[in-house]
Amino acid sequence: MSIQGRSLISPDDFSVAEISHVVETAKEMQRRPTDFGDICRGKILATLFYEPSTRTKLSFESAMLRMGGGVLGFSDANTSSASKGESIADTIRMISAYTDVAVMRHPQEGSAKLAAEYATIPIINGGDGGHQHPTQTLTDLLTIAQLKGGLDGHVVAFCGDLKFGRTVHSLIRTLARYNTRKFILISPEELTLPTSLQHHLKQNSQIETQEYRYLEDAIGEADILYMTRIQRERFFNEDDYQRLKDSYILDAHKLELAKSDVIVMHPLPRVNEIAYEVDRDPRAVYFQQAAMGVYVRMALMALQLGVIR
Ligand code: NCD
Repeated sequence: MSIQGRSLISPDDFSVAEISHVVETAKEMQRRPTDFGDICRGKILATLFYEPSTRTKLSFESAMLRMGGGVLGFSDANTSSASKGESIADTIRMISAYTDVAVMRHPQEGSAKLAAEYATIPIINGGDGGHQHPTQTLTDLLTIAQLKGGLDGHVVAFCGDLKFGRTVHSLIRTLARYNTRKFILISPEELTLPTSLQHHLKQNSQIETQEYRYLEDAIGEADILYMTRIQRERFFNEDDYQRLKDSYILDAHKLELAKSDVIVMHPLPRVNEIAYEVDRDPRAVYFQQAAMGVYVRMALMALQLGVIR
């Protein structure tokens, strides 16, 4: 089992043992961060962001800097040669000569996979359209492992935009490979899980799945409640977005219906789907979750670069 030299485009690229190894390594880094302060000296991370980002880009940069490495990149495709019409294939060939590992976010599904085909360094998918977001999944797994004592046996509820939410797609595919007790899927009719993913779950796991339209009907059963933003930028028209944008708003009143030890997660950014009053509830863990993103990205890159095993 070695992650060295390998790209991470979909969570399916890694075996369950390899995913668990990244999470365990991240735990170790969280426990003793200074022990890893120098392991990437001389290594360079490229951040190629063709789409907006706060947490993903900054946590990758922080992760590399905290391991003693360097960072270069762009956060606006208009300042790169993409604006002159350069292809991903050509860009990534160049980047392979300048850096040792690269994270890419792009609005087109499949873009990171294409980049990995032309790269000679490991490529990490930082989000490709409405498709996948594997490092958010690693962050989510570390959060669940740390705050719920392990990855198995939970009832996991996903609420919001299950159609376009790439963090949902990656996490659900991955939790389906662990011993998850049950999936609860809460969304408007128009924003249910893509049918291809529904088929995938049916064929590859025995996990019970139940659909709901209303958060109130389902919240009491969840051990983990994963809230998501309605993905405005993936909608074909603004009217649909306006109609669906406030489908679910978790407030203190609704949270009263939840288990006393539920954890409320959210990949962030939040728009309107969690009221600010919920932040004060100890069950709201989304800022802790965002903090964990640094450790999984440290672990992932260190393993890909082969500086630890
Ligand atoms: C998510 C994304 O980009 O898919 N953000 C993140 O990386 N934490 C979620 C979102 O944008 O809604």
